[in-house]
Amino acid sequence: MDKDSLLRYTRQNLASWDEAAPLHARINRHLLQEVQNAHYSNLDTHLTRLLLETIDIKGKSCIQICCNNGIDLISLKKKGAGYCLGIDGSQQFIDKAQTLSAAANLKAIEFQCHNIYELPETFLCQFDIALITVGVLNWMPDLPHFMKNCASVLKKGGQLVVEEIHPILSMYVEDETSYIGASYFDKKPFEDENGLDYFNHVKYKAKKNYWFHHTMSDILMAAINVGLHLTYIEELPENIGNYCADLEHTEHNPPLGFVANWSKLGSL
Ligand SMILES: C[S@@+](CC[C@H](N)C(=O)[O-])C[C@H]1O[C@@H](n2cnc3c(N)ncnc32)[C@H](O)[C@@H]1O
Repeated sequence: MDKDSLLRYTRQNLASWDEAAPLHARINRHLLQEVQNAHYSNLDTHLTRLLLETIDIKGKSCIQICCNNGIDLISLKKKGAGYCLGIDGSQQFIDKAQTLSAAANLKAIEFQCHNIYELPETFLCQFDIALITVGVLNWMPDLPHFMKNCASVLKKGGQLVVEEIHPILSMYVEDETSYIGASYFDKKPFEDENGLDYFNHVKYKAKKNYWFHHTMSDILMAAINVGLHLTYIEELPENIGNYCADLEHTEHNPPLGFVANWSKLGSL
């Protein structure tokens, strides 16, 4: 994708995220108290096992890409990670993340506002672990370029850890009983003006945002092509993204999410 289109799509999406931030903050008021708990964690069992048992994040430098209000990175820090940096392209969410990490009274954790497609060069090869959690890949108009930037911030041997909504869900239309209504291979950007209140599923007249569908092979090939070596992948039957959640309990249930871990082979 050419640079102009890439920036047009992502800047428009980020304006839509900025608009949603105050709404999310109202819904998430309880977090200000919760993050003060020494054992606070927003990470589910799959991600916790991967990060603590398979990788061992203790003392390692971590970057969370598209960190939103920072609660996953705050959780990682509480579990013993070293220096932590959260980046997100929405200044509004970065402000929330800073407020929450101050409430949690944590040291050596920072949050900065950057579009993932416009990262500063100072981030190159700086981190042991890069983390991406639920609800990120579909905002990326150009997945190969996104993966390249994720790999670029890792040191040689660094780990990329991803927990995401399973790409097969792009075939489903969400409803009381969600149903198949789209091709798995549809590449048209999905446009929406109903807002980003995915907590309450309340629609509001919002700035337009754009979604992009990537298949599982798009994700795996984007990683292979930038020198990332897949060391673990697991498809998950649980509702991890609050999208088409009813499918978790259907007899012929599709995977709803996946967790994966890649290791960076080279130094660039
Ligand atoms: C659904 S949240 C996912 C993060 C986290 N797992 C969560 O559930 O809060 C998606 C985040 O990606 C950020 N984002 C979307 N496009 C981005 C871009 N091009 N660069 C940086 N951040 C971006 C949004 O601002 C938003 O905070």
